[in-house]
Amino acid sequence: MGMIEIEVAGEKLVIHEFDDVYDSVTGRALTGSWLWDSALLLSHWMMIAQGRVEFDFVGKNVIELGAGTGLPGLTAARLGASRVILTDVEPLLPGLKNNVEANGLGDRVEVSRLIWGSDELPSQLGDLGGVDLVLMSDVFFDVAETAALGKTLKRICGEKTVVWAACEVRPWTGDCLNQLVSHGFELVELPSQLSADYGNFSVFRLVQPTQGFESEKEWSMPLLNC
Ligand SMILES: C[S@@+](CC[C@H](N)C(=O)[O-])C[C@H]1O[C@@H](n2cnc3c(N)ncnc32)[C@H](O)[C@@H]1O
Repeated sequence: MGMIEIEVAGEKLVIHEFDDVYDSVTGRALTGSWLWDSALLLSHWMMIAQGRVEFDFVGKNVIELGAGTGLPGLTAARLGASRVILTDVEPLLPGLKNNVEANGLGDRVEVSRLIWGSDELPSQLGDLGGVDLVLMSDVFFDVAETAALGKTLKRICGEKTVVWAACEVRPWTGDCLNQLVSHGFELVELPSQLSADYGNFSVFRLVQPTQGFESEKEWSMPLLNC
C-alpha cells in the first residue's frame, strides 16, 4: 500500500493507504484500504467546482459515506468546510483517523462508523444542525448495498443537502443507480470535462424530489488545465 500526495488549495494533502485491514471472513484486504480513482476524480472535481457551481465549501457541514482512505472529505476540509465526518466500517476507522492527523485537520474532521441501511447514525449528526454536502466515491458496486445506501441517504439528507458521487462506470453501475432512483433520487450527470484523465468515470449529483436542479449552463465546467 502506498502514500499519495495531491495539492489542494495550495497545500499538500497526504493520503496513506492501509496495510493491515482485512475482512475477517474472506481474509482479503478491505476495499477501502486503498485509494480508488473515483476519489481522485471527485477531489479534482470539487477543486474545480469551488466557487463555480454556487457551492462554497466555507463553513459547510460535510459527511462522506464509504470514505475508505478519506480523500474527498479531507479535500472538503481543505477547501474550507467547517465540519467533516468521514464514515465507513469499523476496521477502516483507525486508518482514517491517521489520515486526518497526518494532514493536521483534527480540529474539523471527525471519523465515525456508519453502516449503510443501519438505524444507527453517527452521534455527531445530531449537533450538526443539518448536512450541507454528502460525498461518495466508488460506492455503486452492488445492487443490494446501494439499496441500503439509498435508505441511509434519505435519513441524512435535508431539503437543501447537496449530494455528489463519483464512480467508475461498470456493467452493473446502471442497476445500482436505478436503486437510488427507486428511493426517489434523480441522478444528474455533472459535466466535469475531466474526461481526458478519467475516461470511464462520472460525477453525479443526486437530487431529491423536493429539490430543483439548476440549469446545465450554471453547472457547466471549464476545461481542467492540469
Ligand atoms: C470501492 S471502496 C471506495 C473507497 C473510497 N470511497 C475511495 O473511493 O477510495 C467502497 C467503500 O465502501 C465501504 N462500504 C461498503 N459497504 C458498506 C456498508 N454497507 N456500509 C458502510 N460502508 C460500506 C467500504 O468499506 C469501502 O470503503
